[in-house]
Amino acid sequence: MKTTSTQTEARAEQPEPKHSGREKTPWWKNSIVYQVYPRSFLDTNGDGTGDLKGITAKADYLDDLGVKTLWLSPFFTSPMADFGYDISNFIDVDPIFGSLADFDELLKTMHSKDIKVVLDIVPNHSSDEHEWFQRSLRREEPYADYYVWADPKGFNDSGNPIPPNNWLCLFRGSAWTWREERSQFYYHSFHRKQPDLNFRNPLVQEEMKNVFKFWLDRGVDGVRVDGLKHLFQVEDQNLDEPVIDWAGFNNLHYTSLMHPFTEDQPETFEVLRDWRKMMDTYPNKLIMTEAYNEDIRDVMKYYGNDTDPLADFPFNFRLIEKLQNRSDVTGTRLKNIIDEWFDNLPEGKWPNWVLGNHDQIRVASRVGTDLVDALNMLTLLLPGTPVTYYGEEIGMQDVYISWEDTKDPWGYNFGPDHYREHSRDPCRTPMQWDATANAGFSKGPSTWLPVNDNYKTLNVKAQLEARESHLKVYKTLARLRQENSFAKGKLAFSVVTDEVLAFIRYLEDEPTYLVVLNLSANDVVVNLHHHANLELPPDASVITRSVSDKSEENSPGSKVNLSALTLVRGEGLVLQLPFVEE
Ligand code: NOJ
Repeated sequence: MKTTSTQTEARAEQPEPKHSGREKTPWWKNSIVYQVYPRSFLDTNGDGTGDLKGITAKADYLDDLGVKTLWLSPFFTSPMADFGYDISNFIDVDPIFGSLADFDELLKTMHSKDIKVVLDIVPNHSSDEHEWFQRSLRREEPYADYYVWADPKGFNDSGNPIPPNNWLCLFRGSAWTWREERSQFYYHSFHRKQPDLNFRNPLVQEEMKNVFKFWLDRGVDGVRVDGLKHLFQVEDQNLDEPVIDWAGFNNLHYTSLMHPFTEDQPETFEVLRDWRKMMDTYPNKLIMTEAYNEDIRDVMKYYGNDTDPLADFPFNFRLIEKLQNRSDVTGTRLKNIIDEWFDNLPEGKWPNWVLGNHDQIRVASRVGTDLVDALNMLTLLLPGTPVTYYGEEIGMQDVYISWEDTKDPWGYNFGPDHYREHSRDPCRTPMQWDATANAGFSKGPSTWLPVNDNYKTLNVKAQLEARESHLKVYKTLARLRQENSFAKGKLAFSVVTDEVLAFIRYLEDEPTYLVVLNLSANDVVVNLHHHANLELPPDASVITRSVSDKSEENSPGSKVNLSALTLVRGEGLVLQLPFVEE
């Protein structure tokens, strides 16, 4: 493959980190991370909620899909105020999901298929029903200081206590909730049933490390750390956060404040460093962190650097944050998103690409069903680790959930007129396995959230049987990314316009692949030879394409002319270039 212009950007595989404790090429680099929201994957006992046995039962599916890392959202003991992210026992399984024995079985089964298992650890807060909180409430030692408590600033005319400052929680309203038992407020970044743990207390730090160790000793392969940026607040509780002039409907909205005193505090990185060191006493454990930050430099801090490694990667949410609707998806914008990540990536660190998760509108609903395959091609074929939210491989869509059926506390707190702007229920509906009742998710009379009406046609079984389907495209991509050209190869861009993004993946003595994405809402004919920065052969053969393209000329296996490549709206094409004799 010859590249001819200075515009060509080639990116070699990132150099390996120098520190010890981890393999040269750790397993997660070439793996897809697949997120399962356990409530919604498969229900084996008919109660309408998914369980661990259900996930174990689908090990073959994951294996066949080509997924090598399974990230499980929380299944720990929980009153379910935030559906498992409010934990009342960090080292046990909630009965709704099964038992510790079921977990061990899940782990054994996944490991037998060479699938790693990564747990969602929620260090920032517990449930208010956790024993630690109950004892803290009673000021029992050593628990009295396990949470962030504050005296009232004063009392209003009706005798009600006034919170110490204006800090808000993400789930709407003050971050402070009053408890008569202590005549104090406690702080919660999220729901009032999720009191923040006090990480200034060394005992709390120790407790949380023991939680990590409990699961690592059981054999888990890594962690996804929830809500990490909220771990610390400044010590001075008299400081109000600055108000943004925001045209929202009231000042109870989290985004109406800036958060210099409650997010990304320097102490957070010390704790993360400590976890990294502890995790590195085990071989090859993965740390992924959750950090939504506008400024990319703030996100990158969670990587640490070559000499001070922290997370293996903080999630890259740019493809979510910057692609909010169909018209956001342009070749230029995608290229900018990719460049922004690479340009800011600390040396020796590895990229990752996330299209969706249990907190976001599903990608098919956010930007359009026509782009499902093209975006999977992008995230699975760029250098880096892709993170797939369950159902994205079949193009699952959000479901309309009425106010009456709303379960998510985030949505619920905003009331009947605004819940839909915040509720995460629509993206958490049951996995669509087949066309039988409840999409094959549950044999029970009902499911915890409704199944999408489209399940009769949009389901795993139908897509396995179809000649071409999202699922089949996904499987092809998962297989392809194991090839050296993708696993170790370089990246170069061929076309970057608003309509089209084309890139190649190549490595000496290995096949060269060309990925062409038509991101516009129209069918296009592209002349790849017009773009002078890459010298391309006259034709190439089709490996896979978006399901929306029914043409004979682009069908897998056919040869296509790179001077006149026809793509339907939103289509992605993966092509293999012929070997060129030098
Ligand atoms: C982030 C999680 O992704 C979200 O689902 C949860 O509600 C909050 N953390 C609180 O734990």
